[in-house]
Amino acid sequence: EKQGYRHFMLKEIHEQPSVVRTCLEAYINPDWHSQNSDEENPITLNLKPEIYEDLEHIQIVACGTSWHASLVGKYLLEQIAQIPTFVQYASEYRYAPSPMMRNTITIGVTQSGETADTIAALEMERQRRSSCDRTYQARILGITNRPESTLGGMVDQVINTYAGIEIGVAATKTFVAQVIAFYILALDLAGRRKTITPSRMEEILKGLLQLPTQIEQIIHSEEPKIRDLAHQFPDTKDFIFLGRGINFPIALEGALKLKEISYIHAEGYPAGEMKHGPIALLDAHVPVVAIAMGGSVYEKVISNAQEAKARDARLIGVLPQNHHEDMFQDTLIVPEVDEILSPILAVIPLQLLSYYIASMRGLDVDQPRNLAKSVTVE
Ligand code: F6R
Repeated sequence: EKQGYRHFMLKEIHEQPSVVRTCLEAYINPDWHSQNSDEENPITLNLKPEIYEDLEHIQIVACGTSWHASLVGKYLLEQIAQIPTFVQYASEYRYAPSPMMRNTITIGVTQSGETADTIAALEMERQRRSSCDRTYQARILGITNRPESTLGGMVDQVINTYAGIEIGVAATKTFVAQVIAFYILALDLAGRRKTITPSRMEEILKGLLQLPTQIEQIIHSEEPKIRDLAHQFPDTKDFIFLGRGINFPIALEGALKLKEISYIHAEGYPAGEMKHGPIALLDAHVPVVAIAMGGSVYEKVISNAQEAKARDARLIGVLPQNHHEDMFQDTLIVPEVDEILSPILAVIPLQLLSYYIASMRGLDVDQPRNLAKSVTVE
């Protein structure tokens, strides 16, 4: 049921505060404080002990939006838990797998748990490991919204994202929930491997628990603005999304959402790569969305946006509060948070922007042409 919303996609965007809350509550012990940190890990993921044993690498296979969530996951696993992590497109990996690595967790990330390429890549991985010694065994995980799916039946353990069923073809709440699952996994591993101080752990946990309210705030303050902004692109044919660091995958995701449901050509790029090619596309007809979320790469993204401005691009900024920059024609404002948490907030205005551009064009947002909710063919 759409419960008064025009489309399931909009309903699902609005459900994100509660989805994030549910996922966090499932895995975080709210009574944990850094002072009693000797006692236990604040994360209750309950993975089997052999999954953690001598862990050296993590390898992730996924498609589409789940692949984007995995790229954020890589950042978290490497920066918080210090584990070298590789993210692969399942459709590529199944035909060109990397050489086998011992003591490596392989994670399939799929909201539906039915994506043919992801399932096939994991099956291939499972089979080739089965003839090896035990350092290769029992290390296949799934991150999914549907533990009862095909994926759930074939992996050694599932991390449930608890997003609830998603009907809109464009993934929104399931993406956010997958990213939350990666925070949980990264913090769990970091706690066990002592790659994080208890006080930093507490800081990130506190930040995570604020996210639901902050997402609500963004929807409340930015949705009316984005609805108006969407009317300004009736004939736009191309969009560029720029982000860096942990928000580079969010640029990819913003572009994917827009192309899927509005059929506008859009590219997501790491902001620093723009000058190596895509800058040639820019003129007054190509809006550029720059995700400048504060933190270590803020100045860099701003200067990349300036390069776009110099080519007459219409600039839209996704910015934290109190960072207004004059060069942006439009700004989508989100609460200022720790850089490590910023992707969850940055993606919200981009979901809304793609939704309102598509709906303003009168398109079938929930069932875009040529797409299916779960891609069970190769
Ligand atoms: C994006 C989208 C697709 C899926 C992809 C993987 O909005 O819906 O790109 O993300 O088909 O699907 P799952 O996660 O079910 O494996």
